[in-house]
Amino acid sequence: MMKHGATMRPTGRTAVVGAARPRATRTVVRMAAVSEATTGVKRNPNLAKLGAGYLFPEIGRRRREHQEKNPDAKIISLGIGDTTEPIPKVITDALQGAAAGLNTKEGYSGYGAEQGMGGLRDKLASRFYDGLGIGSDEVFVSDGSKCDISRMLMLFGSDTSIAVQDPAYPAYVDSSVIMGATGVLNEETSQYNNITYMNCLKENGFFPDLSKANKTDLIFFCNPNNPTGACATREQLQSLVDFAKANGSIIVYDAAYAIYIEDGSPKSIYEIEGADECCIETCSFSKYAGFTGVRLGWTVVPNKLKFSDGTPVNKDWNRIMTTCFNGASNIVQGGGLACVTDAGFDAMMGLVTYYKENCKLIRECFVEMGFEVYGGVNAPYVWVGFEGRPSWDVFAEILEKCDLVTTPGSGFGPSGEGFVRVSAFGNRSDVEEAIRRLKKVYGK
Ligand code: MLT
Repeated sequence: MMKHGATMRPTGRTAVVGAARPRATRTVVRMAAVSEATTGVKRNPNLAKLGAGYLFPEIGRRRREHQEKNPDAKIISLGIGDTTEPIPKVITDALQGAAAGLNTKEGYSGYGAEQGMGGLRDKLASRFYDGLGIGSDEVFVSDGSKCDISRMLMLFGSDTSIAVQDPAYPAYVDSSVIMGATGVLNEETSQYNNITYMNCLKENGFFPDLSKANKTDLIFFCNPNNPTGACATREQLQSLVDFAKANGSIIVYDAAYAIYIEDGSPKSIYEIEGADECCIETCSFSKYAGFTGVRLGWTVVPNKLKFSDGTPVNKDWNRIMTTCFNGASNIVQGGGLACVTDAGFDAMMGLVTYYKENCKLIRECFVEMGFEVYGGVNAPYVWVGFEGRPSWDVFAEILEKCDLVTTPGSGFGPSGEGFVRVSAFGNRSDVEEAIRRLKKVYGK
Protein backbone atom coordinates (compact mmCIF):
# COMPACT_ATOMS: atom_id res chain seq x y z
CA MET A 1 0.00 0.00 0.00
CA MET A 2 1.18 3.54 -0.75
CA LYS A 3 2.50 5.24 2.37
CA HIS A 4 1.06 8.57 3.49
CA GLY A 5 2.85 11.42 1.83
CA ALA A 6 4.18 9.25 -0.97
CA THR A 7 4.12 10.77 -4.44
CA MET A 8 2.01 8.99 -7.01
CA ARG A 9 3.63 8.41 -10.36
CA PRO A 10 2.26 10.27 -13.35
CA THR A 11 0.18 7.93 -15.47
CA GLY A 12 1.75 9.45 -18.56
CA ARG A 13 0.02 9.15 -21.90
CA THR A 14 -3.41 7.68 -21.67
CA ALA A 15 -5.83 6.64 -24.40
CA VAL A 16 -8.80 8.94 -24.88
CA VAL A 17 -12.13 7.60 -23.67
CA GLY A 18 -12.50 4.18 -25.15
CA ALA A 19 -10.83 5.53 -28.26
CA ALA A 20 -9.97 2.88 -30.77
CA ARG A 21 -7.38 3.51 -33.35
CA PRO A 22 -4.23 2.02 -34.69
CA ARG A 23 -1.35 2.77 -32.37
CA ALA A 24 0.32 5.11 -34.85
CA THR A 25 -2.65 7.48 -34.99
CA ARG A 26 -3.78 7.22 -31.36
CA THR A 27 -4.87 10.52 -29.89
CA VAL A 28 -3.76 10.88 -26.31
CA VAL A 29 -4.65 13.08 -23.40
CA ARG A 30 -2.38 13.72 -20.49
CA MET A 31 -4.00 12.99 -17.16
CA ALA A 32 -3.21 15.23 -14.20
CA ALA A 33 -1.76 12.51 -12.04
CA VAL A 34 0.91 13.66 -9.63
CA SER A 35 -0.48 14.33 -6.20
CA GLU A 36 0.40 13.88 -2.56
CA ALA A 37 -1.49 11.14 -0.74
CA THR A 38 -3.57 12.47 2.16
CA THR A 39 -4.94 9.10 3.28
CA GLY A 40 -3.79 5.52 3.38
CA VAL A 41 -6.78 4.29 1.42
CA LYS A 42 -5.90 2.31 -1.66
CA ARG A 43 -7.52 3.44 -4.89
CA ASN A 44 -10.12 1.04 -6.30
CA PRO A 45 -8.01 -0.76 -8.92
CA ASN A 46 -11.02 -1.13 -11.20
CA LEU A 47 -11.38 2.62 -11.49
CA ALA A 48 -7.69 2.84 -12.21
CA LYS A 49 -8.28 0.54 -15.21
CA LEU A 50 -10.42 3.15 -16.96
CA GLY A 51 -8.26 4.78 -19.61
CA ALA A 52 -9.79 8.23 -19.23
CA GLY A 53 -12.99 10.03 -18.31
CA TYR A 54 -16.50 9.13 -19.46
CA LEU A 55 -17.10 10.01 -23.11
CA PHE A 56 -19.57 12.88 -22.83
CA PRO A 57 -17.81 14.92 -20.13
CA GLU A 58 -14.65 14.62 -22.26
CA ILE A 59 -16.55 16.01 -25.24
CA GLY A 60 -17.90 18.77 -22.98
CA ARG A 61 -14.34 19.60 -21.96
CA ARG A 62 -13.26 19.93 -25.59
CA ARG A 63 -16.27 22.09 -26.34
CA ARG A 64 -15.38 24.45 -23.47
CA GLU A 65 -11.80 24.59 -24.66
CA HIS A 66 -12.98 25.54 -28.15
CA GLN A 67 -15.28 28.21 -26.69
CA GLU A 68 -12.44 29.65 -24.63
CA LYS A 69 -10.26 29.91 -27.70
CA ASN A 70 -13.13 31.31 -29.80
CA PRO A 71 -15.25 33.39 -27.43
CA ASP A 72 -17.53 34.63 -30.23
CA ALA A 73 -18.25 31.19 -31.64
CA LYS A 74 -21.91 30.19 -31.49
CA ILE A 75 -21.37 26.53 -30.82
CA ILE A 76 -24.17 24.12 -31.68
CA SER A 77 -24.27 20.71 -30.04
CA LEU A 78 -25.49 17.66 -31.88
CA GLY A 79 -23.17 15.62 -29.69
CA ILE A 80 -24.67 14.06 -26.59
CA GLY A 81 -28.23 12.89 -27.17
CA ASP A 82 -29.77 15.48 -24.91
CA THR A 83 -33.31 16.58 -25.58
CA THR A 84 -33.95 20.27 -26.25
CA GLU A 85 -37.69 20.68 -26.75
CA PRO A 86 -40.10 21.57 -23.92
CA ILE A 87 -41.91 18.77 -22.16
CA PRO A 88 -45.55 18.70 -23.32
CA LYS A 89 -47.99 20.61 -21.10
CA VAL A 90 -50.13 17.59 -20.34
CA ILE A 91 -47.05 16.11 -18.64
CA THR A 92 -45.74 19.26 -16.94
CA ASP A 93 -49.27 19.87 -15.58
CA ALA A 94 -49.07 16.47 -13.93
CA LEU A 95 -45.59 17.21 -12.58
CA GLN A 96 -46.86 20.51 -11.17
CA GLY A 97 -49.93 18.80 -9.72
CA ALA A 98 -47.79 16.19 -8.01
CA ALA A 99 -45.50 18.89 -6.60
CA ALA A 100 -48.43 21.02 -5.42
CA GLY A 101 -50.01 17.99 -3.78
CA LEU A 102 -47.02 17.68 -1.49
CA ASN A 103 -48.16 20.92 0.13
CA THR A 104 -51.42 19.32 1.24
CA LYS A 105 -52.26 16.80 3.95
CA GLU A 106 -53.96 14.48 1.46
CA GLY A 107 -51.36 14.85 -1.27
CA TYR A 108 -48.24 14.52 0.85
CA SER A 109 -46.21 11.34 0.57
CA GLY A 110 -42.82 10.39 1.91
CA TYR A 111 -40.88 7.30 0.95
CA GLY A 112 -42.68 5.32 -1.70
CA ALA A 113 -42.27 1.77 -2.87
CA GLU A 114 -38.73 1.21 -4.12
CA GLN A 115 -40.19 -0.59 -7.14
CA GLY A 116 -42.36 2.40 -8.09
CA MET A 117 -45.99 3.43 -7.66
CA GLY A 118 -48.36 0.54 -8.28
CA GLY A 119 -50.49 2.61 -10.65
CA LEU A 120 -47.48 3.56 -12.75
CA ARG A 121 -46.19 -0.01 -12.91
CA ASP A 122 -49.64 -1.15 -14.08
CA LYS A 123 -49.81 1.51 -16.77
CA LEU A 124 -46.25 0.90 -18.00
CA ALA A 125 -47.07 -2.79 -18.35
CA SER A 126 -50.28 -2.14 -20.28
CA ARG A 127 -48.95 0.74 -22.42
CA PHE A 128 -45.67 -0.83 -23.55
CA TYR A 129 -46.09 -4.59 -23.07
CA ASP A 130 -49.76 -5.18 -23.85
CA GLY A 131 -50.28 -8.75 -25.00
CA LEU A 132 -46.64 -9.65 -24.35
CA GLY A 133 -47.24 -11.42 -21.05
CA ILE A 134 -45.48 -8.84 -18.88
CA GLY A 135 -47.23 -8.05 -15.60
CA SER A 136 -46.83 -4.96 -13.46
CA ASP A 137 -44.94 -6.94 -10.79
CA GLU A 138 -42.21 -7.48 -13.40
CA VAL A 139 -41.81 -3.73 -14.08
CA PHE A 140 -39.46 -1.77 -11.77
CA VAL A 141 -39.63 2.03 -11.96
CA SER A 142 -36.33 3.87 -11.58
CA ASP A 143 -34.45 7.10 -12.08
CA GLY A 144 -33.31 6.04 -15.54
CA SER A 145 -31.75 3.28 -17.59
CA LYS A 146 -28.15 4.38 -17.11
CA CYS A 147 -28.53 4.03 -13.33
CA ASP A 148 -30.26 0.67 -13.78
CA ILE A 149 -27.40 -0.54 -15.98
CA SER A 150 -24.90 0.23 -13.22
CA ARG A 151 -27.12 -1.44 -10.63
CA MET A 152 -27.37 -4.47 -12.91
CA LEU A 153 -23.62 -4.92 -12.69
CA MET A 154 -24.08 -4.96 -8.93
CA LEU A 155 -26.81 -7.57 -9.41
CA PHE A 156 -24.58 -9.91 -11.39
CA GLY A 157 -21.32 -9.18 -9.62
CA SER A 158 -17.76 -9.14 -10.80
CA ASP A 159 -17.51 -12.81 -11.69
CA THR A 160 -19.62 -12.37 -14.81
CA SER A 161 -18.52 -12.51 -18.41
CA ILE A 162 -19.81 -9.78 -20.67
CA ALA A 163 -20.44 -9.17 -24.36
CA VAL A 164 -21.25 -5.83 -25.94
CA GLN A 165 -22.06 -4.63 -29.40
CA ASP A 166 -19.10 -2.73 -30.77
CA PRO A 167 -19.71 0.20 -31.03
CA ALA A 168 -21.92 0.54 -27.94
CA TYR A 169 -23.25 3.05 -25.46
CA PRO A 170 -20.20 3.49 -23.19
CA ALA A 171 -22.02 2.91 -19.90
CA TYR A 172 -22.08 -0.88 -20.47
CA VAL A 173 -18.32 -1.23 -20.74
CA ASP A 174 -17.39 1.43 -18.20
CA SER A 175 -19.81 0.08 -15.57
CA SER A 176 -18.46 -3.42 -16.16
CA VAL A 177 -14.89 -2.19 -15.71
CA ILE A 178 -15.80 -0.37 -12.50
CA MET A 179 -17.52 -3.49 -11.16
CA GLY A 180 -14.36 -5.51 -11.78
CA ALA A 181 -15.90 -7.78 -14.39
CA THR A 182 -13.16 -7.05 -16.93
CA GLY A 183 -9.42 -7.10 -17.30
CA VAL A 184 -7.27 -4.11 -18.14
CA LEU A 185 -7.42 -2.00 -21.27
CA ASN A 186 -5.36 -3.45 -24.08
CA GLU A 187 -3.64 -0.41 -25.58
CA GLU A 188 -3.10 -2.17 -28.90
CA THR A 189 -6.74 -3.01 -29.51
CA SER A 190 -8.39 -0.35 -27.33
CA GLN A 191 -10.46 -3.20 -25.87
CA TYR A 192 -10.71 -4.30 -22.27
CA ASN A 193 -9.59 -7.85 -21.64
CA ASN A 194 -12.38 -10.30 -20.79
CA ILE A 195 -15.05 -8.40 -22.68
CA THR A 196 -16.39 -9.86 -25.89
CA TYR A 197 -16.74 -7.09 -28.46
CA MET A 198 -19.30 -8.12 -31.08
CA ASN A 199 -18.44 -6.13 -34.20
CA CYS A 200 -21.33 -4.21 -35.67
CA LEU A 201 -20.05 -2.92 -38.96
CA LYS A 202 -21.57 -1.73 -42.19
CA GLU A 203 -20.43 -5.07 -43.66
CA ASN A 204 -22.80 -6.98 -41.36
CA GLY A 205 -25.58 -4.42 -41.38
CA PHE A 206 -24.54 -3.41 -37.83
CA PHE A 207 -25.84 -6.71 -36.44
CA PRO A 208 -23.22 -9.01 -34.90
CA ASP A 209 -22.17 -12.26 -36.49
CA LEU A 210 -23.36 -14.52 -33.69
CA SER A 211 -21.63 -17.53 -35.17
CA LYS A 212 -18.34 -15.85 -34.21
CA ALA A 213 -19.41 -14.54 -30.78
CA ASN A 214 -18.14 -16.07 -27.56
CA LYS A 215 -20.51 -17.55 -25.03
CA THR A 216 -20.84 -15.04 -22.18
CA ASP A 217 -23.07 -14.64 -19.14
CA LEU A 218 -24.40 -11.23 -20.14
CA ILE A 219 -25.01 -9.66 -23.53
CA PHE A 220 -25.66 -5.93 -23.58
CA PHE A 221 -27.76 -5.16 -26.63
CA CYS A 222 -29.10 -1.72 -27.50
CA ASN A 223 -31.84 -1.64 -30.12
CA PRO A 224 -32.45 0.64 -31.99
CA ASN A 225 -28.78 1.04 -31.59
CA ASN A 226 -26.95 3.89 -30.02
CA PRO A 227 -24.73 4.98 -31.76
CA THR A 228 -25.22 3.44 -35.22
CA GLY A 229 -28.97 4.05 -35.43
CA ALA A 230 -29.40 0.52 -36.82
CA CYS A 231 -32.58 -1.34 -35.93
CA ALA A 232 -32.65 -5.14 -35.80
CA THR A 233 -35.34 -7.08 -37.62
CA ARG A 234 -37.61 -9.60 -35.94
CA GLU A 235 -35.55 -12.44 -37.45
CA GLN A 236 -32.30 -10.96 -36.17
CA LEU A 237 -33.75 -10.53 -32.69
CA GLN A 238 -35.05 -14.09 -32.75
CA SER A 239 -31.55 -15.30 -33.63
CA LEU A 240 -30.15 -13.25 -30.73
CA VAL A 241 -32.63 -14.72 -28.26
CA ASP A 242 -31.99 -18.24 -29.60
CA PHE A 243 -28.25 -17.64 -29.23
CA ALA A 244 -28.68 -16.50 -25.63
CA LYS A 245 -30.91 -19.43 -24.78
CA ALA A 246 -28.52 -21.93 -26.33
CA ASN A 247 -25.67 -20.49 -24.24
CA GLY A 248 -27.60 -19.91 -21.04
CA SER A 249 -26.90 -16.17 -21.30
CA ILE A 250 -28.96 -13.19 -20.16
CA ILE A 251 -29.52 -10.33 -22.60
CA VAL A 252 -29.70 -6.85 -21.12
CA TYR A 253 -31.82 -5.24 -23.80
CA ASP A 254 -31.67 -1.45 -23.86
CA ALA A 255 -34.83 -0.16 -25.53
CA ALA A 256 -34.25 3.52 -24.78
CA TYR A 257 -35.01 4.50 -28.40
CA ALA A 258 -37.77 1.97 -29.19
CA ILE A 259 -40.41 4.67 -29.63
CA TYR A 260 -38.46 5.91 -32.68
CA ILE A 261 -39.01 2.66 -34.60
CA GLU A 262 -41.25 3.27 -37.61
CA ASP A 263 -40.71 0.27 -39.88
CA GLY A 264 -42.70 -2.33 -37.93
CA SER A 265 -39.64 -3.94 -36.31
CA PRO A 266 -40.23 -5.13 -32.73
CA LYS A 267 -40.32 -2.36 -30.12
CA SER A 268 -39.79 -4.73 -27.21
CA ILE A 269 -37.65 -7.83 -26.96
CA TYR A 270 -40.65 -9.57 -25.39
CA GLU A 271 -42.23 -9.65 -28.85
CA ILE A 272 -39.68 -12.39 -29.48
CA GLU A 273 -40.46 -15.95 -28.48
CA GLY A 274 -38.46 -17.16 -25.50
CA ALA A 275 -37.26 -13.67 -24.53
CA ASP A 276 -39.01 -13.76 -21.16
CA GLU A 277 -36.69 -16.60 -20.16
CA CYS A 278 -33.45 -14.84 -21.06
CA CYS A 279 -33.95 -11.06 -21.28
CA ILE A 280 -34.07 -8.03 -19.06
CA GLU A 281 -35.37 -4.92 -20.83
CA THR A 282 -34.58 -1.39 -19.72
CA CYS A 283 -36.20 1.78 -21.00
CA SER A 284 -36.73 5.39 -20.01
CA PHE A 285 -38.74 8.52 -20.60
CA SER A 286 -35.57 10.53 -21.34
CA LYS A 287 -35.87 10.36 -25.11
CA TYR A 288 -39.65 9.82 -25.09
CA ALA A 289 -40.81 12.80 -23.05
CA GLY A 290 -37.72 14.98 -22.74
CA PHE A 291 -37.03 13.62 -19.24
CA THR A 292 -33.21 13.68 -19.54
CA GLY A 293 -33.17 16.14 -16.64
CA VAL A 294 -36.36 14.99 -14.92
CA ARG A 295 -35.17 11.35 -14.67
CA LEU A 296 -37.59 8.45 -14.92
CA GLY A 297 -37.10 5.01 -16.37
CA TRP A 298 -38.05 1.41 -15.83
CA THR A 299 -36.62 -2.07 -16.10
CA VAL A 300 -38.54 -5.25 -16.80
CA VAL A 301 -37.29 -8.41 -15.13
CA PRO A 302 -39.67 -11.24 -16.03
CA ASN A 303 -40.71 -13.80 -13.43
CA LYS A 304 -39.59 -16.59 -15.75
CA LEU A 305 -35.98 -15.36 -15.85
CA LYS A 306 -33.95 -17.52 -13.45
CA PHE A 307 -30.34 -17.95 -12.38
CA SER A 308 -28.62 -21.29 -12.83
CA ASP A 309 -29.66 -22.30 -9.29
CA GLY A 310 -33.31 -21.56 -10.09
CA THR A 311 -33.51 -18.29 -8.14
CA PRO A 312 -35.72 -15.77 -9.96
CA VAL A 313 -33.55 -12.90 -11.15
CA ASN A 314 -36.22 -10.41 -10.15
CA LYS A 315 -36.02 -11.57 -6.53
CA ASP A 316 -32.40 -10.39 -6.46
CA TRP A 317 -33.17 -7.29 -8.54
CA ASN A 318 -35.79 -6.40 -5.94
CA ARG A 319 -33.15 -6.86 -3.24
CA ILE A 320 -30.75 -4.55 -5.11
CA MET A 321 -33.39 -1.90 -5.69
CA THR A 322 -34.60 -1.94 -2.10
CA THR A 323 -31.03 -1.66 -0.86
CA CYS A 324 -29.59 0.90 -3.30
CA PHE A 325 -32.61 2.96 -4.22
CA ASN A 326 -35.47 4.61 -2.38
CA GLY A 327 -37.80 4.81 -5.34
CA ALA A 328 -38.10 7.41 -8.09
CA SER A 329 -39.21 10.90 -7.03
CA ASN A 330 -42.93 10.97 -6.27
CA ILE A 331 -43.27 14.20 -8.28
CA VAL A 332 -41.59 12.65 -11.28
CA GLN A 333 -43.71 9.52 -11.09
CA GLY A 334 -46.72 11.86 -11.17
CA GLY A 335 -45.38 13.11 -14.50
CA GLY A 336 -44.78 9.53 -15.61
CA LEU A 337 -48.44 8.72 -14.97
CA ALA A 338 -49.34 11.44 -17.48
CA CYS A 339 -46.86 10.06 -20.05
CA VAL A 340 -48.72 6.77 -20.20
CA THR A 341 -52.19 8.24 -20.72
CA ASP A 342 -53.44 8.49 -24.31
CA ALA A 343 -52.99 12.27 -24.29
CA GLY A 344 -49.49 11.97 -22.83
CA PHE A 345 -48.49 9.28 -25.29
CA ASP A 346 -49.73 11.36 -28.24
CA ALA A 347 -47.78 14.33 -26.91
CA MET A 348 -44.62 12.20 -26.65
CA MET A 349 -45.15 11.06 -30.23
CA GLY A 350 -45.27 14.75 -31.17
CA LEU A 351 -41.78 15.16 -29.74
CA VAL A 352 -40.58 12.03 -31.50
CA THR A 353 -41.94 13.34 -34.81
CA TYR A 354 -40.13 16.64 -34.28
CA TYR A 355 -36.77 14.96 -33.65
CA LYS A 356 -37.33 12.58 -36.55
CA GLU A 357 -37.76 15.54 -38.89
CA ASN A 358 -34.34 16.71 -37.65
CA CYS A 359 -33.01 13.24 -38.49
CA LYS A 360 -34.33 13.52 -42.00
CA LEU A 361 -32.67 16.90 -42.53
CA ILE A 362 -29.34 15.69 -41.13
CA ARG A 363 -29.43 12.52 -43.19
CA GLU A 364 -30.28 14.40 -46.37
CA CYS A 365 -27.46 16.87 -45.74
CA PHE A 366 -24.79 14.19 -45.45
CA VAL A 367 -26.19 12.10 -48.30
CA GLU A 368 -26.22 15.18 -50.55
CA MET A 369 -22.59 15.88 -49.64
CA GLY A 370 -21.68 12.35 -50.69
CA PHE A 371 -20.99 10.75 -47.32
CA GLU A 372 -21.87 7.23 -46.30
CA VAL A 373 -24.86 7.61 -44.02
CA TYR A 374 -26.53 5.07 -41.74
CA GLY A 375 -29.24 5.18 -39.07
CA GLY A 376 -31.55 8.12 -38.54
CA VAL A 377 -34.67 6.28 -39.67
CA ASN A 378 -35.69 4.13 -36.70
CA ALA A 379 -33.43 6.00 -34.31
CA PRO A 380 -32.54 9.60 -33.45
CA TYR A 381 -28.88 9.16 -34.39
CA VAL A 382 -27.23 9.51 -37.77
CA TRP A 383 -23.99 7.57 -38.24
CA VAL A 384 -21.73 9.17 -40.80
CA GLY A 385 -18.68 7.50 -42.32
CA PHE A 386 -15.38 9.35 -42.83
CA GLU A 387 -13.51 6.33 -44.10
CA GLY A 388 -9.81 6.18 -43.29
CA ARG A 389 -9.94 9.12 -40.90
CA PRO A 390 -9.71 8.80 -37.11
CA SER A 391 -13.03 9.80 -35.56
CA TRP A 392 -11.48 12.13 -33.00
CA ASP A 393 -9.75 14.04 -35.81
CA VAL A 394 -13.03 14.41 -37.67
CA PHE A 395 -14.76 15.47 -34.45
CA ALA A 396 -12.04 18.11 -33.89
CA GLU A 397 -12.23 19.32 -37.49
CA ILE A 398 -16.03 19.73 -37.42
CA LEU A 399 -15.77 21.56 -34.10
CA GLU A 400 -13.00 23.80 -35.41
CA LYS A 401 -14.51 24.59 -38.81
CA CYS A 402 -18.25 24.49 -38.09
CA ASP A 403 -18.44 25.27 -34.36
CA LEU A 404 -20.46 22.08 -34.23
CA VAL A 405 -20.19 19.34 -31.60
CA THR A 406 -20.69 15.75 -32.80
CA THR A 407 -19.61 12.51 -31.14
CA PRO A 408 -16.56 10.59 -32.39
CA GLY A 409 -17.52 7.04 -33.31
CA SER A 410 -14.47 5.50 -31.66
CA GLY A 411 -15.70 6.87 -28.32
CA PHE A 412 -18.27 4.06 -28.51
CA GLY A 413 -15.69 1.34 -29.13
CA PRO A 414 -13.04 0.31 -31.62
CA SER A 415 -15.52 -0.53 -34.38
CA GLY A 416 -16.81 3.03 -34.31
CA GLU A 417 -13.52 4.25 -35.76
CA GLY A 418 -13.96 6.22 -38.96
CA PHE A 419 -17.46 7.41 -38.06
CA VAL A 420 -19.04 10.31 -36.22
CA ARG A 421 -22.47 10.24 -34.65
CA VAL A 422 -24.76 13.22 -35.23
CA SER A 423 -27.62 13.50 -32.79
CA ALA A 424 -31.05 14.64 -33.93
CA PHE A 425 -31.82 16.03 -30.50
CA GLY A 426 -31.66 19.73 -31.18
CA ASN A 427 -33.77 22.72 -31.84
CA ARG A 428 -34.83 22.93 -35.51
CA SER A 429 -33.17 26.29 -36.10
CA ASP A 430 -29.89 24.94 -34.66
CA VAL A 431 -30.11 21.86 -36.86
CA GLU A 432 -30.73 24.03 -39.92
CA GLU A 433 -27.81 26.29 -39.02
CA ALA A 434 -25.57 23.24 -38.41
CA ILE A 435 -26.49 21.97 -41.87
CA ARG A 436 -25.63 25.33 -43.46
CA ARG A 437 -22.22 25.29 -41.77
CA LEU A 438 -21.55 21.67 -42.73
CA LYS A 439 -22.43 22.34 -46.35
CA LYS A 440 -20.10 25.31 -46.45
CA VAL A 441 -17.18 23.19 -45.30
CA TYR A 442 -17.91 19.75 -46.74
CA GLY A 443 -20.33 20.50 -49.60
CA LYS A 444 -19.24 19.89 -53.14
C1 MLT B 1 -26.00 9.54 -25.75
O1 MLT B 1 -25.76 10.64 -26.23
O2 MLT B 1 -25.45 8.51 -26.14
C2 MLT B 1 -26.98 9.46 -24.66
O3 MLT B 1 -27.84 10.50 -24.69
C3 MLT B 1 -26.36 9.50 -23.36
C4 MLT B 1 -27.28 8.95 -22.34
O4 MLT B 1 -28.42 8.60 -22.62
O5 MLT B 1 -26.81 8.81 -21.21
